Amino acid sequence: MIKWKDKREFWITGAKLADPEAGKIKSGSVLIQKGRISELAWQGAVQSDLPQLDIGGLVLSPGFIDIHTHLREPGYEEKETIETGTAAAAAGGYTAVVCMANTEPVVDDPSIVKFILEKSAQVSHCRVYITAALTRNLEGVHINEYHLLREAGAVALSDDGKFVVDSRVMRSALEYARIYNLPVIAHCEDTFLTAGALMNESYSSTRLGLKGTPAAAEEIAVARDVRLAELTGSRLHVAHVSTAGAVELIKKAKRKGVPVTAEASPHHLTLDDTMLETYDRNLKVNPPLRDKKDIEALRSGLREGTIDCIATDHAPHTEIDKQVEFDFAPPGIMGLETAFAQLNTELVDGVEFSLVDLIRLLTIKPAQTLSLPGGKLARGEPADLVLIDPDEEWVLEKAALRSKSSNTPLLGKKFRGRVQGVFLEGKWESAIL
Ligand code: NCD
Ligand code: ZN
Ligand code: ZN
Repeated sequence: MIKWKDKREFWITGAKLADPEAGKIKSGSVLIQKGRISELAWQGAVQSDLPQLDIGGLVLSPGFIDIHTHLREPGYEEKETIETGTAAAAAGGYTAVVCMANTEPVVDDPSIVKFILEKSAQVSHCRVYITAALTRNLEGVHINEYHLLREAGAVALSDDGKFVVDSRVMRSALEYARIYNLPVIAHCEDTFLTAGALMNESYSSTRLGLKGTPAAAEEIAVARDVRLAELTGSRLHVAHVSTAGAVELIKKAKRKGVPVTAEASPHHLTLDDTMLETYDRNLKVNPPLRDKKDIEALRSGLREGTIDCIATDHAPHTEIDKQVEFDFAPPGIMGLETAFAQLNTELVDGVEFSLVDLIRLLTIKPAQTLSLPGGKLARGEPADLVLIDPDEEWVLEKAALRSKSSNTPLLGKKFRGRVQGVFLEGKWESAIL
C-alpha cells in the first residue's frame, strides 16, 4: 500500500500508464504540479530534483467518471450523504460523479443545485456534477426551468427512477432541453407494464412466484424516447439499458443518426435473473436483472459502441429498507465500490475486453457521453488519477465499505483487480482502509 504525503510537486514513476484515448497501456512517468499533469515521460529514468513516487508497475489511469450516481442528499441521508457517497466513489476509483435528481426535495429548483454544489465543495472526496429533474417533483407533468437549472450548474436533466408517462411532456422537455444544450437522461420502463413487478418476467419469475415485468416494458419506452429524440433533434441518453431488444433499438437509431447515447450498469452486465432464487433483496433493482442472452447482448453492444459507457446507478438503501418482504424492498444496488473489480473479474479476459477497453468505458467514454471534462491522460489535465493493481485478489467485506449502505449482492465475493486509491488534483486518497 502506498504511503504518500501531501506533496504539491512530484513524479509518479514506474507506472503502466493507461491512455484511454489512444487505447494503450505503456510504461512511463507523470509529473504532477499544482494539481495538474504537467509532464508525461515515456522512456527511461526521470532526471529531476523533484520527489519521485515509484509505484512499482501498477496501472495509473485517468480517474473513473460515473454519470449515474444516487448520492441521496438532501433528504435520504440515512442511506447516503454527499460525503459518504463520494468517499465510496473515490474508493472505487472514481474522481467524478454525476448525481441524480430523485432526492427530497427533488433537484427541480436552482436552490437545490446550489445546495449540492456548496455542500460538495466542503465535504466531497471527488468532483460532483448534477443532473436536475426534468419535471417538477418528478411528477411528469410540469417542466422545470431548465435555463435556471443550467445557470446554477446542472449538466443534464432526468426524472430517473420514473418514466415520463406523458409523451407530450417528454417531447416538450426534449425540445426545451435542446435550447440549453442539456442532455436528457431517460429511465425507460413503461409504467403500466412494470406495475407491481418485482423481477424480470421469465421462467424464473414463474418458478419463484414473483410478479415479472417483460423486456417489452423497457423496449416500448426506449422506442418512444428514441423516436422523440429523432423528432426533436435533442440529445437523449438512455440510462441502465438491460435488454437485447433495447440494444437493437438504440443501434438502429444510431445508424439513422439520431443523437442518442446509452449506458449499461455493472449489475446488468454480470448478474442474471436466476440468481433471485435466493430472494436476496439486494438483487432487486429497476430495471430488473435479465437473462443470459440479454447480458450477452449488452456486452456486444458495449464492444461495438452501441452502448457508449458503463455507469453504476449506485442506488444505496439501508439494511432496514431492504429487510422487509420482497414486495416492499426498494429497488437498487450499490455500485461505486465494486464496479471496477467486478467488471475486471467478469469481463476482462483479454479477448472480448482488454483492461484498457474497460478503462475507456469508465473514463473518456462517460465524459464524452455527457460532454464533461476529464477522462484524458494528457498534459494540462487535472491530476485526477486512479491507481490500479489489475491482479490483486481480494474479498469484498462489509466493514470495508465507505458507503453508508451495504445493499450489494457481492459481499463475500472474491475479485481479481483492485483499485488502490485515487489522486484528486494530485492529492492521494487510499481506497484501502
Ligand atoms: C434507483 C434508486 O434507488 O434511486 N433504483 C433502482 O432500482 N435503479 C432509481 C433508478 O435508477 O431508477
Ligand atoms: Zn432509473
Ligand atoms: Zn438511477
